Amino acid sequence: MPCSSEALIGWINSRRSMGNLDMPAPTRAQIETAIECAATAPDHKKLRPWRFIVTQGDARHELGNALVEAAQAKADREGEELSEKNLKKTQTLPLRAPLIITVVTKMEAHKKVPPFEQMLSTGAAVQNLILALKSQGFSTVWRTGLLCNEPAVKAYFDVGPDDYVSAFVYTGTSPKDDPVRKPIDIEPLVRFES
Ligand SMILES: Cc1cc2nc3c(=O)[nH]c(=O)nc-3n(C[C@H](O)[C@H](O)[C@H](O)COP(=O)(O)O)c2cc1C
Repeated sequence: MPCSSEALIGWINSRRSMGNLDMPAPTRAQIETAIECAATAPDHKKLRPWRFIVTQGDARHELGNALVEAAQAKADREGEELSEKNLKKTQTLPLRAPLIITVVTKMEAHKKVPPFEQMLSTGAAVQNLILALKSQGFSTVWRTGLLCNEPAVKAYFDVGPDDYVSAFVYTGTSPKDDPVRKPIDIEPLVRFES
């Protein structure tokens, strides 16, 4: 154990999601370290259903274009009109952090591993990723938003119709201190049986 259990538990519980992140962003080596941690997530039959796409610099504008295309298609489908302001906001969503790690779930048809297990494994991978980034001094926020599984966004990430864009992990350095989390009363969440 690298540190005491008490210290480690306190550290896990201190994680907060932080928006509007700045540089510095993690280096490639730091990102790879975090993805190695993500890839140790519980994974029934070792399907490795997760993929990680790292978007930074000008590539964020291209992701913004895909989000705009998705927003437009969604609005057309739903018979809504998008304002210029709304389109501009959508275009600039990826600029809220210097780096985004998109986590995709590649669904595999498997007799013993139904889709929900593959999604849950992705959730575990994302949490490992977030904690590994935190351990290296970076802040994150896991976002999805209503556009993440629109066809234009799936096409951008080259994922199939049965696959999912499961997380945009916005990553960088927060100009603000992490707010202290209020203690969570777990009593209504738990039942012990013996
Ligand atoms: C699958 C998933 C998708 C999420 N999508 C969004 C999102 O699109 N926008 C957002 O503000 N928060 C989103 N959240 C919530 C934040 O990641 C975060 O958990 C929440 O703001 C609470 O903050 P905390 O992590 O500091 O407790 C999402 C969380 C999960 C698990």
